[in-house]
Amino acid sequence: RTIYLKDYQAPDYLVDRTDLTFDLDPHATLVTSRLKVRRNPAVARAEETLPPLWLDGSDLELLSVSVDGELLPAQRYQEKPGGLALSVDRAAFELEVQTRIAPEANTSLEGLYLSNGMYCTQCEAEGFRKITFYPDRPDVMSIFTTTIVAPATYPVLLSNGNRIDSTTTEDGRLRVTWEDPFAKPSYLFALVAGDLQHVEDHFTTCSGRTVKLQLFTEARNIGKCAHAMASLKHAMRWDEEVYGREYDLDIFMIVAVDHFNMGAMENKGLNIFNSACVLASPETATDAAFQRIEAIVAHEYFHNWSGNRVTCRDWFQLSLKEGFTVFRDAEFSADMNSRAVKRIEDVILLRTSQFAEDAGPMSHPVRPDSYMEISNFYTLTVYEKGAEVVRMIHTLLGEEAFRRGSDLYFERHDGCAVTCEDFVVAMEDANSADLKQFRRWYSQAGTPVLEVTDAYSEANGEYSLTIRQHTPATPGQNDKLPLHIPVKIGLLDESGSPLPLDTSGREEMVLHLTEAEQTFTFNGIASRPLPSLLRGFSAPVKLRYGYSSAQLQFLMRHDSDPFNRWDACQRLALDSLCKLQQQYRAGAALESPGTLIEGFAAVLDDVTLDPALVAKMLSLPSAQELAEQEGDIDAAAIIAVRVFARDAIAKALEARFLARYRALDRRKPYTPAAEDIAERSLKNTCLTYLCAAGNADSLTLAKTQFERGENMTDTAAALAALVEFGPEEQSENFLEAFYQQWQQDTQVVETWFGLQSGSAKFGTLERVQKLMSHPAFDVKNPNKVRAVVAGFAMRNFTQFHREDGSGYNFLADQVIALDKLNPQIAARLVTPLTRWRKYRAEESGQIRAALQRISDSGKLSSDLYEVVSKSLGQD
Ligand code: ARG
Ligand code: ZN
Repeated sequence: RTIYLKDYQAPDYLVDRTDLTFDLDPHATLVTSRLKVRRNPAVARAEETLPPLWLDGSDLELLSVSVDGELLPAQRYQEKPGGLALSVDRAAFELEVQTRIAPEANTSLEGLYLSNGMYCTQCEAEGFRKITFYPDRPDVMSIFTTTIVAPATYPVLLSNGNRIDSTTTEDGRLRVTWEDPFAKPSYLFALVAGDLQHVEDHFTTCSGRTVKLQLFTEARNIGKCAHAMASLKHAMRWDEEVYGREYDLDIFMIVAVDHFNMGAMENKGLNIFNSACVLASPETATDAAFQRIEAIVAHEYFHNWSGNRVTCRDWFQLSLKEGFTVFRDAEFSADMNSRAVKRIEDVILLRTSQFAEDAGPMSHPVRPDSYMEISNFYTLTVYEKGAEVVRMIHTLLGEEAFRRGSDLYFERHDGCAVTCEDFVVAMEDANSADLKQFRRWYSQAGTPVLEVTDAYSEANGEYSLTIRQHTPATPGQNDKLPLHIPVKIGLLDESGSPLPLDTSGREEMVLHLTEAEQTFTFNGIASRPLPSLLRGFSAPVKLRYGYSSAQLQFLMRHDSDPFNRWDACQRLALDSLCKLQQQYRAGAALESPGTLIEGFAAVLDDVTLDPALVAKMLSLPSAQELAEQEGDIDAAAIIAVRVFARDAIAKALEARFLARYRALDRRKPYTPAAEDIAERSLKNTCLTYLCAAGNADSLTLAKTQFERGENMTDTAAALAALVEFGPEEQSENFLEAFYQQWQQDTQVVETWFGLQSGSAKFGTLERVQKLMSHPAFDVKNPNKVRAVVAGFAMRNFTQFHREDGSGYNFLADQVIALDKLNPQIAARLVTPLTRWRKYRAEESGQIRAALQRISDSGKLSSDLYEVVSKSLGQD
């Protein structure tokens, strides 16, 4: 069943107070819900007959319903698929509903479930209805009180807000009550019960209040909390300084759980995290994990304002909180680390994955018009492209105006459930700005393409840029209108110096592209300049301008925008790889990519560049990104030319890689500080190229680095190089030694799984199949499934696209099996198969057949059904 944004209706009834009591038991948890319900005055008419009250519910055993203390006779309510309809005879009443649920049997990880014996919840988007019958929609906001009763073996009982009571019952059980003074929708509810340890700290807010900070984990992980705690305090300070947002409760808690569908969840005062996104120690976590934790802790914390205090009216508005919060966490990470590197990483994600989503069967606008299953819309488009849309508002209005807009937004809508439109209106009203055309970014799907040409007249000293925009059709949207696109630019003279763009002398400006075709003219330009376009990736578009290799190399050296220096290098690499692909497809001998090697040499020789930026510049575009470039994807060609180019670069620049490696191999104590992360990333990039060059001495370097085992970043990078380039038998031994050392550590075992599923070596599929019966594998744990199955299907282009199609069949089998346990994970995992139309006939047929087999396998969950049917084109 499809739900449409245009059908939105305000709720018939409001719930002023929600009182919940949980009597916890793995097989039979008793949930008693007492609601103060009243007719929504905004929709009530005089002398009306009261409409029925609809309560969402799924997988619940209904025990009783009472109104104002009296049991409701059966004819007054009706259980239907998806909920309960109650006939109502008064405009305000107290409703009590008793239900029974079985957390132990809940493998969907939505609602109340068990993870390693610990009770926890995940309610966003529609998980609360698996706990009790309730108007489970974000525009119903209520004050929650939660009482938890559990055996003494669960000494820690947590919920949202402040703990207001704690007693022991007559039969020796623990009984704790929490109250959250802030009205919230049900999706922000949380409950945790377990035998947990915690670390504690505190934060003094800008107005001088002390907030207690607690991070809960199982005892074995208590030594892995310091980084998340430090990140939380940085985030709290940053939100005060940059957005003027102060924390509002006296306590803020984070709980780490091993079984979790996503990264983390911003439940009011009680964030619940996937262990992998919160736990870290220098010995066990990679630099990437440290940075991810910092970002996600901040993201969830920032939701306290952008999401909780101001929430979404309905789920079509999801990007209101997610796009904005991703933008906020990206800016936070940029402030804490290297701004350019953060931007590059985000743009890589957009170009490889979001652009592909925008061009595929699930393509949807940042604010979707319809969905079957909202869980399928927690997408790169809603999150990442949504963040780009907020970033563009920031770019168009400027820093101060944007802050005025966000202040007005928070002030105007505090305590309310609102829309993307409300956000844009606040930005306009605070600045008398006009974002009328800009709004199309919310409703129009697809990635716009900008084609840029230029002209120069020496006689007039006049330079002009002509930009044409068009957005390709997407499912359900054939005709696209021109968007309001901020194009940040600069112009470079022959010496590489920036040219003044107007009489004010500024050297960078934002062009407002609003027409399908538009020309921008610059005067007083003494000689033909080289344009630096779309600086900092000022809009989520594909930009085309016919740069020559020489011009790209010039930009790589001279552009004042570090992002565009990297981007010029990427374009150079893309051009080289495309040329190689043409040679490959024509059956011609592949020519060494001389220009690219020259460019990389210059980058390696420039010791003034940030090593992290150098590492990014030296990384070839991924196979996925190459695939995204073309219509008729030839997987074999992509794989072959990438390996060819990599090896050619490795051999040609071996001496340089070795010199840089040696210079960076400092052996100092580990810190996750940005400068150290930068050095390690370049060092390990060099190590990988060295090993690819195939010299035995390089493998010895990797072996030494692996055996020193100084930190997980260096150890894992060395192990990956050994697995990829070393002799088979030896790499088996290294993998085994690594497992023996770390088998007790859940997060490291996940890293170990990922190293193997991502190996480009032939035989990875068989290895992956074997790993699925490894004692450390658990099909009910999404992290394990992601490490092994998604690691293979989504991050291992080479082996997933094995010519015999066995990769596709393997994935289809896994998706079918997983759908019975965890529909959300199954629907995500199927993504690579949904792209079948983009491949050339051979692969396309095989992928489609795998998809068809899923479709024919029996009754699918609504999650998987939506993705599969849209991909096959049945809907
Ligand atoms: N709001 C959470 C976050 O962005 C994600 C929750 C995802 N839930 C889901 N069912 N997909 O931080
Ligand atoms: Zn979020």
